[in-house]
Amino acid sequence: MSIQIAPSILAADFANLQKEVEMLNSSEADYIHVDIMDGLFVPNISFGLPVTEAIHRHATKPLDVHLMIMDPDRYLEAFRKVGAETISVHLEACTHLHRTIQAIHHLGAKSGVALNPHSPVDLLSEIIQDVDIVCMMSVNPGYGGQKFIENTYQKISRLKDLIISKGAKTKIEIDGGVNLGNAPKLKEAGADILVAGSFVFNSANPLDTIKELKSI
Ligand code: DX5
Ligand code: ZN
Repeated sequence: MSIQIAPSILAADFANLQKEVEMLNSSEADYIHVDIMDGLFVPNISFGLPVTEAIHRHATKPLDVHLMIMDPDRYLEAFRKVGAETISVHLEACTHLHRTIQAIHHLGAKSGVALNPHSPVDLLSEIIQDVDIVCMMSVNPGYGGQKFIENTYQKISRLKDLIISKGAKTKIEIDGGVNLGNAPKLKEAGADILVAGSFVFNSANPLDTIKELKSI
């Protein structure tokens, strides 16, 4: 199966959001990745519900919402209401992750668990069968444009082994520092979805860049 691409709107020109979303609509992207940062779980603040709603109003691609917020249970329903198709929460931000995953499914959304670079994939061994997507962070969350962490390849292989051993159907999404240099190796290691922010939006032709990522 060809790899799926989720451009991160965090790297878009927020003053021209509609134009940027329309560009993504006409691209080969599979999702629009929406990064929500609360200034607490991560040092940065990005944007919240009204901006996500505005993105959804113009988007024809499903929204893949990545919540980098503490106690995300408080906002699951609200993000579902403004159009989240997939909701990813951080393992490190949830006390009762199983309950949170159930709540996401109850809202009719696909569930994602995001893992910080320091978190071992084994922490997912008892829950992997219930999770639709693991969003593996290949940078420390909080900012776009950071350098890819090389240990990610080994982590993908370990996660792939865990998914197979449990007979799960979980997809592996890689988030942070993705570019055309590392994308083929990420795919080879077992990635299903690649998030790319600055590499797409800072390129001369984002449509071509998405196409190139898609065809690795
Ligand atoms: C990082 C975010 C990423 C980020 C990716 O905290 O979760 O989705 O926007 O951006 P790049 O591709 O620039 O690393
Ligand atoms: Zn993200």
